[in-house]
Amino acid sequence: MVGMTRESESGLPIEPVYGPEALEGWDPAEKLGAPGGYPFTRGVYPSMYTGRPWTMRQYAGFGTATESNARYRQLIAHGTTGLSVAFDLPTQMGHDSDAPIAHGEVGKVGVAVDSVDDMRVLFDGIPLDQVSTSMTINAPAALLLLMYQLVAEEQGVGADRLTGTVQNDVLKEYIARGTYIFPPKPSLRLTADIFQYCRAEIPRWNTISISGYHMAEAGASPAQEIAFTLADGIEYVRTAVAAGMDVDDFAPRLSFFFVARTTILEEVAKFRAARRIWARVMRDEFGARNPKSLMLRFHTQTAGVQLTAQQPEVNLVRVAVQGLAAVLGGTQSLHTNSFDEAIALPTDKSARLALRTQQVLAYETDVTATVDPFAGSYVVEKMTDDVEAAALDLMRKVEDLGGAVAAIEHGFQKNQIERNAYRIAQETDSAERVVVGVNRFQLDEEEPYEPLRVDPAIEAQQAERLARLRAGRDRSAVDAALAALKKAAESEDNVLYPMKDALKARATVGEVCNALREVWGTYVPSDAF
Ligand code: 3HC
Repeated sequence: MVGMTRESESGLPIEPVYGPEALEGWDPAEKLGAPGGYPFTRGVYPSMYTGRPWTMRQYAGFGTATESNARYRQLIAHGTTGLSVAFDLPTQMGHDSDAPIAHGEVGKVGVAVDSVDDMRVLFDGIPLDQVSTSMTINAPAALLLLMYQLVAEEQGVGADRLTGTVQNDVLKEYIARGTYIFPPKPSLRLTADIFQYCRAEIPRWNTISISGYHMAEAGASPAQEIAFTLADGIEYVRTAVAAGMDVDDFAPRLSFFFVARTTILEEVAKFRAARRIWARVMRDEFGARNPKSLMLRFHTQTAGVQLTAQQPEVNLVRVAVQGLAAVLGGTQSLHTNSFDEAIALPTDKSARLALRTQQVLAYETDVTATVDPFAGSYVVEKMTDDVEAAALDLMRKVEDLGGAVAAIEHGFQKNQIERNAYRIAQETDSAERVVVGVNRFQLDEEEPYEPLRVDPAIEAQQAERLARLRAGRDRSAVDAALAALKKAAESEDNVLYPMKDALKARATVGEVCNALREVWGTYVPSDAF
């Protein structure tokens, strides 16, 4: 051993020089498998990027559907290979833009979508059989999926040709992000309904993006990030199996979402450990037989919390390093943050630069020339084992509490994450954790930066659109469809079918979610801890 031992983000020792002794008794056949083979440590596809580069999927959306449609067209023109829709908070929380609670938030952190009319504008001129679209939507995921399908039908595109993902992961919303509506039981029922609906109607759609990103942004360590995410995944699989689905009927369409930090070595180890844990869980606990059921396919976003408002151009370097960590770790899809996002929404130029960062990684480096380049590395294989062991220990603790939902109700995940967030804050305040430009290498005077601003008139525009929509539709048809939806919500019937009829009759996001609120109620977090 040479030099001081450092602690990793997960609190694990990183010996400065690992030699063969670090991997004594380590069996590559058992630990690694082949690329695209069980336990998928080395990646989910045999050829990985030598067959197809990851999807460059930039999260975008703000203002009205018109503004966001223009940004999507720009990104496509600049070479993006997948779309990723950011919705504003009223949409994410199931409220109409003219609801009092929506005031001040319309079009702010994402695009305002109140009805199928807005969805049509959002994808105007974008052929939905030629693009895969991710939608970051959770509690009302079913509504946005169905409106996407309705717009595809208007384009003459059959649902069997649609590809994309809805995030649809409400458990992490209870833990770390907050855009939940209904209590856990009906939320999980709705998740299972989406699994069943997509199996029958939209077979190539990824039904969920089980997310660790937001927990990481809230302070979770890499081991906590994958442990709590995979524990949520196990809860969703149990729910679907309990609803009568065969695991191989839905598991191939589960997907995941993680962060990429600047700590490259540990992040690569984290991704490799997550794939190996998930493959074992799906084979050994759930008896999955289809290899696609064992594959942990994931999207990565570079760490927003590591962006600084000070010397924002330094973020370009951070994002490039984080993006490199994601691709060395075998991500299927990647969002690279814009350098100015710690200040405001990305400008057209900063959004283009973020995409160019991925294009440099894909086309000017040699990371796409091979598969899992760190395989056999003393330090990364040791870190993969260490992160895996730490994650499995946390997953056992969640299981001992009764599984992810029970642990959430105990406040376990939130408590663990907050402890780690506090440690990070203390280390940053003491400058033990260096943040370039913030606690070391500062400027005496920051240089001015002119951010993008969202026009506050957006809210009035959306309210006018809603007034026109309500005036121009068949109210009795909407009422009948909403009544049918409530009836389904009270029964065991799959709610997506009557929900689609309501949306087609131009019921609004708020009206559909209010109908479900009347039946299911809303979630009130316990202050258990
Ligand atoms: N060999 C063989 N086939 C290959 C291949 C290879 N090397 N590479 C890709 N393919 C195939 C795949 O099998 C797939 O075909 P299929 O759909 O028929 O199975 C097709 O090519 C597309 O490949 P992927 O599925 O790997 O890539 P996608 O980009 O389509 O999907 C995903 C990636 C992770 C599975 C998907 O779920 C996804 O796109 N997720 C994105 C989630 C996202 O963008 N989230 C944003 C969150 S932002 C947020 O939360 C808000 C903020 O607060 C952070």
